[in-house]
Amino acid sequence: MKKHDYFFNRLKKIIPQHIKPKFGTGLELLKWNQEQGKLNSTKIIKKNYEIKFKKTVMQSGIHELYKDCSFDNYQLENERQKKALSMAKRYLKEFNQNSLASFIFSGKPGTGKNHLATAIGMNLILNGKSFLLITVADIMSNIKETFSFKNSLHEKNLLYNFSNIDLLVIDEIGIQIESRYEKIVINQIIDRRSSSKRPTGMLSNLDYISLNHLLGERVMDRMRIGNSIWVRFDWESYRKHIK
Ligand SMILES: Nc1ncnc2c1ncn2[C@@H]1O[C@H](COP(=O)(O)OP(=O)(O)O)[C@@H](O)[C@H]1O
Ligand SMILES: [Mg+2]
Repeated sequence: MKKHDYFFNRLKKIIPQHIKPKFGTGLELLKWNQEQGKLNSTKIIKKNYEIKFKKTVMQSGIHELYKDCSFDNYQLENERQKKALSMAKRYLKEFNQNSLASFIFSGKPGTGKNHLATAIGMNLILNGKSFLLITVADIMSNIKETFSFKNSLHEKNLLYNFSNIDLLVIDEIGIQIESRYEKIVINQIIDRRSSSKRPTGMLSNLDYISLNHLLGERVMDRMRIGNSIWVRFDWESYRKHIK
């Protein structure tokens, strides 16, 4: 007797009379079993993918508030916003074609710099790339943590990790009072990234002159490699729309 027929006979004995099974023969039972197996495994694969995606997003520095930001829900109220959106989209497209270009989004608060940077990041994560959005303050406190004895992650390793991420976006450049050490750290990060052929994004409220003054010519030169872009977000804050 075939194995599936044997199981079918045993099942027939234990299933209560009033329950009609989904199969009438041993072969049907086998098929049903295989189908369920496939169904479950696709469910598991999908679930695993969702968990992994969620985890990647959580680790990417994309905060809860921003996780729904996309190109599609970026509202256009003027031509400059339209241009900013199309530049961000083009940046993503070229990034996927192995471009080394960096970007700077600068301008007033609330104009959507984080929104568009997040939209780029979400798309990259979906394409299996690694993305990290981190504020200067968080970079600095991460580095300070590496000074403590208990922490095995040394400053060198941390800088190395920053240079391994496909796209690193440094947020809130120029928010804090200018510090020499910050300038050195940002310099090192950009330097290492560009020597391992990785581009960097920058979000800042500063204009060209102030950013140049804060970071220095050397970094700014690195930020101009290839098709790098500088988008000025010079319209009113969107926050008035948010209740
Ligand atoms: N054009 C826009 N369309 C839809 N939402 C926007 C737009 N601009 C900004 N927002 C939203 O406004 C809030 C503030 O924008 P944010 O990206 O943080 O600005 P910034 O980083 O320039 O200070 C966010 O919730 C963002 O999603
Ligand atoms: Mg911002």
